[in-house]
Amino acid sequence: GTTLGTSAAEKGRYFGAAIAAGKLGDSVYTGILDREFNSVTAENEMKWDATEPSQGRFSYGNADRIVNHARSRGMLVRGHALLWHQQQPGWAQSLSGSALRNAAINHVTQVATYYRGKIHSWDVVNEAFADGGGGGRRDSNLQRTGNDWIEAAFRAARAADPGAKLCYNDYNTDGINAKSTGIYNMVRDFKARGVPIDCVGLQSHLTNSAPSDYQANLQRFADLGVDVQITELDISGSNQAGAYAAVTRACLAVARCTGITVWGIRDTDSWRTGQNPLLFDGNGNKKAAYTSVLNALNGG
Ligand code: G3I
Repeated sequence: GTTLGTSAAEKGRYFGAAIAAGKLGDSVYTGILDREFNSVTAENEMKWDATEPSQGRFSYGNADRIVNHARSRGMLVRGHALLWHQQQPGWAQSLSGSALRNAAINHVTQVATYYRGKIHSWDVVNEAFADGGGGGRRDSNLQRTGNDWIEAAFRAARAADPGAKLCYNDYNTDGINAKSTGIYNMVRDFKARGVPIDCVGLQSHLTNSAPSDYQANLQRFADLGVDVQITELDISGSNQAGAYAAVTRACLAVARCTGITVWGIRDTDSWRTGQNPLLFDGNGNKKAAYTSVLNALNGG
């Protein structure tokens, strides 16, 4: 293939980008998006604060702009994210206990129902595990509603949109470490007990290299019977092009690694200000990292 999307499709995979509704009027931005990518993630527009700014009043305008842009061009949509300890609306931050639990599950049900049939994969729960060596859950208002909040969210999402793949998504889980093993154990438990889960997202915000056991980590999740997706890829540092190729090859080497999403289009669109971690420069020109990914997708 001659673009990221067509080359990935030849390998049975998608290649996506996180995008912002407010940039869809930028013709350089949209030109790259429409030429290169066949999947999108809303960088912020589907988060809880954006979609339910006051309790029970849902707001989908910016998310719909992204979904409509993508679907009218045959692109997949990854939904991001139904529940997360960050980017909660103020009203949810002030709830706790059963009031928060009920509000959270209602949020999952309402948003997943609104988008039923339009979402390829949902990040049902984002970043619920703690950093460091413990391998346990992160303390959060959601976690304090009870350890079963994650499975309750997945069950609600499945009921609302049975066709969407339901993912657990996190960062610093790209190699085999205590945090990724904690998630691995949760997924194994969910599969054993019949809790609906279809995929694990590895965000892959990286510097200079992927962990040496990156592919082995993808494979161990796949071996549990879930898909794996690289969901928020960006890589800074002088070995950027080489690291992008290594990540791409690792995904292609794992049958259940179904797609890669980069977290932005141009370096100037990145949340990692000044780090230039993406595939296109601020003028929209292809970088060495772009060529490296394209060659890797095409078997080079
Ligand atoms: O849109 C408002 C704007 O109106 C306001 O003037 C401005 C002032 O601060 O804020 C703007 O909102 C910001 C938004 O990005 C859009 O630019 C928020 O403050 C800012 O917190 C938000 O940051 C996002 C961050 O998640 C927090 O939600 C980043 O764009 C986004 O890239 C980042 O993405 C996360 C993933 O969702 C989860 N994994 C990690 C990843 C990187 O942090």
